[in-house]
Amino acid sequence: MTAPLFVTADESLLDELLRLAAAAGTTPEVAHDVPAALRAWLKAPLVLVGEDLAVPMARAAPTRRDAVFVVLTAPVPDRVFQVALALGAESVAELPRSEGWLVERLTDVVDAGPARGLTIGVVGGSGGSGATIFACALAQVAARGGPSVVVDADPLGPGVDRVLGLDLVDGVRWDALGHTTGRLSARALRDSLPRREGMAALSWFGGAQPRRLQPFAAREALSAARRGHDTVVIDLPRAADPLVDEIAARCDQVLVTVVTTVAGVAAAMRLCGRFPDPGALGLVVRGSGMDDETLARVVGSPVVQRMGDQRGLAESIDLGLGPVRSRRGPLGRAAIRVLASLGDRIPRAA
Ligand SMILES: Nc1ncnc2c1ncn2[C@@H]1O[C@H](COP(=O)(O)OP(=O)(O)OP(=O)(O)O)[C@@H](O)[C@H]1O
Ligand SMILES: [Mg+2]
Repeated sequence: MTAPLFVTADESLLDELLRLAAAAGTTPEVAHDVPAALRAWLKAPLVLVGEDLAVPMARAAPTRRDAVFVVLTAPVPDRVFQVALALGAESVAELPRSEGWLVERLTDVVDAGPARGLTIGVVGGSGGSGATIFACALAQVAARGGPSVVVDADPLGPGVDRVLGLDLVDGVRWDALGHTTGRLSARALRDSLPRREGMAALSWFGGAQPRRLQPFAAREALSAARRGHDTVVIDLPRAADPLVDEIAARCDQVLVTVVTTVAGVAAAMRLCGRFPDPGALGLVVRGSGMDDETLARVVGSPVVQRMGDQRGLAESIDLGLGPVRSRRGPLGRAAIRVLASLGDRIPRAA
């Protein structure tokens, strides 16, 4: 595990921060000046920059990176936000007000280290083409190797908790997170989601009227999910929406499920065409109606996996076993291959 980096020459601020680090069970690396900070800048999973060194740090223009925060013990004057912006910091934390949240972020570092989860978006090329089923299959297979979660970003879908057999398991759902304005720690989210055998679901309440995703809650939940799980699979809705586009842009890979009927391919063409770079998407194809090359040419995105129909799917879901009953079936095999190819291709360090 790599230590967080604290950048400050202010001894009393450092004392405060060391106390919080101790509460989180981590020992930070401390840089008392800019050159020392720059040396450790990219290695650390999280960086706290004291307000005393924020201006010289911003002037040194270190490489932009995630998880940088400016910390101070007085009320935050406006100019600090400008410096934070120049430094590429995520936000400014005022002590002691943000203490609890800072301890949680430091705890996340202890928990997850620098790694972040592989994030895969799945969207249907046409309605009912199997996006939700494939998203759940990926999480089910991935859970063998480490914690996985399916994030249901489609309020009109069947509910991924139902597909995975987690609908009767207690835990947090979107409605509990929907109006949050606070930061979420990876551990708090992971511990509160309905889960079975390493696989969790963040979905909508069964009986509740479908609502829209709330931008703040969605961003926070995804960021925490990614820090707390090895694999995050997002069931994306087909409807165009700026928040969904933003979420898709944060995925390591977006997969599009395609059925090889004329209507299925025509709809997939349209759907893929709405992404800024259709060539970066990957098609997961069910049916043998068209060969890979023709499909890729027509749709504008490469085929990453083909599979046949999975028999006994409805029964497996009704029994609460999730879509993958056997890893040797067409669905299990396809999910294993897709995960293996993504794991090889995508660097996992933050
Ligand atoms: N791999 C598969 N093998 C056989 N049938 C499948 C498979 N995937 C999906 N189906 C069938 O298609 C139906 C719809 O699947 P799913 O809900 O995953 O589609 P979707 O693309 O998410 O649909 P929506 O547009 O409603 O979001 C399933 O209930 C099942 O009957
Ligand atoms: Mg769906």
